[in-house]
Amino acid sequence: MKNVIGILAGSLRRESYSKKLANALLSMAPDELEFRIISLADIPIYNQDFDDHPGVPKAVTAFRKEMEQVDGIIFITPEYNRSVPAVLKNALDVGSRPYGKSVWNAKPAAVFSNSPSNLSAFGANHHLRQSLVFLNVPTMQQPEVYLPKVNELFDESGNLKEGSTKDFLQKAVNAYVEWFNKKIFKRWKN
Ligand code: FNR
Repeated sequence: MKNVIGILAGSLRRESYSKKLANALLSMAPDELEFRIISLADIPIYNQDFDDHPGVPKAVTAFRKEMEQVDGIIFITPEYNRSVPAVLKNALDVGSRPYGKSVWNAKPAAVFSNSPSNLSAFGANHHLRQSLVFLNVPTMQQPEVYLPKVNELFDESGNLKEGSTKDFLQKAVNAYVEWFNKKIFKRWKN
């Protein structure tokens, strides 16, 4: 069975550039891996009462089950107010609990940030990395992926235009795959 790489986009917006990037990555997977988009749309805001509670919302259980089938993760984050959008931070929180049952533990990741502005969501990219350190998500260092002017990257059908950004993304995906395949990552207590 193929290892699965979950692609998580930190936006719920219908015309989200992050979601379009997620779609574009699907065709960049090598034969030996499955790239799978994991939707964050139905996850409720985390409440610690969910932990080990019989009334835990079905959407929480469903998201955790989906993540348990995932071996690695590519996060595609936009930036809200110089940080990680709440929908993505909430997914991290929901997946991290109950304590000791984190779905993130030791799953190698990459962070691709994007923005219509020139700053490329640098703030969100690095705030996300801060949480990933604690969650023991070993995160690819290089190449860093900061995509500016993301609103100019797609054609009218929402597909990534041919060009240097598409080539760069494929190279970044290849680097992630190579690094994922090293399989040197150890689970930790959380
Ligand atoms: C933004 N946007 C934004 N952009 C940015 O580069 N830095 C920022 O700090 C913010 N802050 C911010 C806050 C809020 C509440 C919104 C709604 C938007 C603009 C943002 O980059 C733009 O809306 C993107 O298109 C959002 O990503 P998706 O939905 O296209 O994936």
